Amino acid sequence: MSRDQHRSSGPSDPTRRKLLSTGAIGVAAAATAAALGTPAAAQDNSTGVTAQPSPEPTSEFTGQCAFITGGARGIGYACAEELAKAGANIVLYDIAGNIDTVNYPLATEQDLATAKSNIEALGVKCIAIKGDVRDSTKLEESVARTVREFGRLDILVVNAGVTHVGVLDEFPDEEVQTVIDINLTGAVKTTQAALPIMRSQNAGRIVMISSLLGRLGNGDFSVYASTKWGLIGFAKSTALAMAKHNVTCNSVCPGWVRTKLADNDYILNAVSPENPNFEAVIEAADANYHPLPIGAYEPVDIARVVKMFCGQATAMITGEVFDISQGQNARLNA
Ligand SMILES: NC(=O)c1ccc[n+]([C@@H]2O[C@H](COP(=O)([O-])OP(=O)(O)OC[C@H]3O[C@@H](n4cnc5c(N)ncnc54)[C@H](O)[C@@H]3O)[C@@H](O)[C@H]2O)c1
Repeated sequence: MSRDQHRSSGPSDPTRRKLLSTGAIGVAAAATAAALGTPAAAQDNSTGVTAQPSPEPTSEFTGQCAFITGGARGIGYACAEELAKAGANIVLYDIAGNIDTVNYPLATEQDLATAKSNIEALGVKCIAIKGDVRDSTKLEESVARTVREFGRLDILVVNAGVTHVGVLDEFPDEEVQTVIDINLTGAVKTTQAALPIMRSQNAGRIVMISSLLGRLGNGDFSVYASTKWGLIGFAKSTALAMAKHNVTCNSVCPGWVRTKLADNDYILNAVSPENPNFEAVIEAADANYHPLPIGAYEPVDIARVVKMFCGQATAMITGEVFDISQGQNARLNA
C-alpha cells in the first residue's frame, strides 16, 4: 500500500478522491456483495454502465457503515450517534441481557430498541442485533447481514466490555474467565468476523476501546486492567496485519466516563465504600489524581475521538494508542 493510497487527494485529482472517499470501498463492497449474492450494484440498461449504490457524500461518513459492539448504551451508543450524525448507517451489536458472572446490570433489550430508534431518527439506517461478542457464529452471521443490507462494512468499533473489581486472590474463576472472554477474546472474535470484508474492500477503520487501565497497573482492577493491556497489544498487531490492506486499527484509552459500567453499586461500593456515590468518587479523583480537574468524561467525549480515528484526518495513522484520561497520561512513560 503506497503512502499516496492513504492520502486525501486534492481537487486536481477527482478520480483518486472519489476512490478514497467512497469508490474504492464501494467497488470492493460490490464485489463482495456479488460474492454473497447481494444486488449491490444496479445495471443501467440504456448505457450498460454499472451504477454503484453509494450516494454522493454529503457529510463525512454518508453511505458508509459502522458496526459497533456494545452499542446499546454508554460509549458504544455515543459512537453510533456521532457517526450517524455524520451520515453513517449503523449496526448495533449488544448482548442486551445480564450475565451471571458479571456483577452489575448490562444493557436491556429495551435499551437496544431505544438506541435503534434514536439512531434512525437521525436519518440513517440502523440494524440492532442481540448478540454476544463471545459467539463467533453470531458475529459472522451479523457481518454477513450487514453486507447484505448495507453493501459494505467501513468502520468497526470494538467497544463491548465488562469491568471487574476486588481482591485478586478472591476472584472466582468464572468471573476471571468471563472478563477475559468478553474484553479480550471477544475483541479478537469481533475483529476476525470483520476482517474478510475489510480485506476484500481493501479499506476499513477499526477502533478498539481500551482504558487508562490498559496503560497502568491497578491492584483493584487487576484482571480488567490485564485485558485492557492485552487489547492494546491486539490492536497494534491488527494494525500490522491489516496495514497492507488499507485497514487502520487504533485504540483509545479513556479514564473515568459517566456510564453504567462505572456508575453502579458494585463498582462504587468497591472503590468508595464509605460513600458509594459516583459524583463523590469523581470529586475525589479530581482532588487527588486528575491533572485536569474536569470530572468524568461524557460518552460523547470519547465518541468524538473514535470518529476522528474513522475519518480522513487519520487515514495515514495506525497502531496508535490515544489517551483520553483527564491528563493522567502525562504521568506515563513516553
Ligand atoms: N466507563 C468508563 O469509565 C470506561 C473507562 C475506560 C474504558 N471503558 C471501556 O469502554 C467500553 C464501553 O463501556 P461503557 O463505559 O460504555 O459501559 P456500558 O456498560 O455502559 O456499555 C457496555 C455495553 O457492552 C455490552 N456488552 C457487555 N458484554 C457484552 C457481550 N459479551 N457481547 C455484546 N455486548 C456486550 C453491554 O450490554 C453494554 O451495552 C468498555 O470496553 C469499557 O471497558 C469504560
